[in-house]
Amino acid sequence: EPEVIRDKAAMRAWSRRRHAEGKAVAVVPTMGYLHQGHLSLVSAAAASADPVAIVVTIYVNPSQFAPTEDLATYPSDFAGDLRKLASTGVVDAVFSPPDLYDRGTGRRAAASGGGAISCLEEEAGDGHETWVRVEHLEKGLCGASRPVFFRGVATIVSKLFNIIEPDIAVFGKKDYQQWRIICRMVRDLDFSIEIIGSEIVREADGLALSSRNVHLSSEEREKALSISRSLVDARTAALKGNTDCKQIKNKIVQTLTETGGQVDYVEIVEQDSLVPVENIDGPVVICVAAWFGKVRLIDNIEINTR
Ligand code: PAJ
Repeated sequence: EPEVIRDKAAMRAWSRRRHAEGKAVAVVPTMGYLHQGHLSLVSAAAASADPVAIVVTIYVNPSQFAPTEDLATYPSDFAGDLRKLASTGVVDAVFSPPDLYDRGTGRRAAASGGGAISCLEEEAGDGHETWVRVEHLEKGLCGASRPVFFRGVATIVSKLFNIIEPDIAVFGKKDYQQWRIICRMVRDLDFSIEIIGSEIVREADGLALSSRNVHLSSEEREKALSISRSLVDARTAALKGNTDCKQIKNKIVQTLTETGGQVDYVEIVEQDSLVPVENIDGPVVICVAAWFGKVRLIDNIEINTR
């Protein structure tokens, strides 16, 4: 049974005790409603060092949701999550704080007339005003339609790193841009933490596992299979020599649209820099975001032609 920790001072003390015992500390940050994708990150954490103490964090971070997004309907099942984590047999602690932002006094909102409360104040209150931004990497792909998202992610992950003081942190490549942003942040801000990128876990039919999949109707779910199918087809074509990105992207957009998807973006970018390319002749990743019904899904596939 993992130990459930709610308080950040207790979390830091716990981690320091594990270090004093000579263990590495590995963290798996999540927003809960856990599935096999999250549990694969736990396995990667278990294999990352020996001896290792594993902390899974469960915290739905308000600052990465814009006011129009699905914070209020984000699924949760803490008891179920705990059961799943216990069943792995390797998780030592679950850090699930009630809140990690100081909400402040509301004075700043009052001072601005109490009318237009900025996004920032709604998210975190005037008790918090420091943000981590990875300026270029956060702009493209998901950052274009979700302008405050990666600022929220980089900031909460920094806070978790400072609270937990881990040696290792595991992220899924499902959220490819997020993983790259965290790698870059760790490098730029000299966090002494090894970041592990873990492969995407899919259902047998190809759908990438996501906590948000529960909001898909069975019909939408069926249609959404066009995402992974079109990505696999694109990779197959690219490996056969069809490397023109415009053609590849058009084909994917066409497939997604035909199956009733609303495309947010389809981009082919370099794996490290996330800079778009016109022709595939090195390590790239095709990234897709599309709406099926009220659910925004993301997926990607790496292509290594050389
Ligand atoms: P969440 O969406 O809960 O995802 C937690 C971790 O699980 C992320 O690293 C994500 O990439 C990984 N993950 C999700 N689905 C996966 C799949 N099908 N295969 C492999 N890994 C998968 O990402 C977040 O939470 C938050 O932004 C967070 C980093 C916790 C900051 O709030």
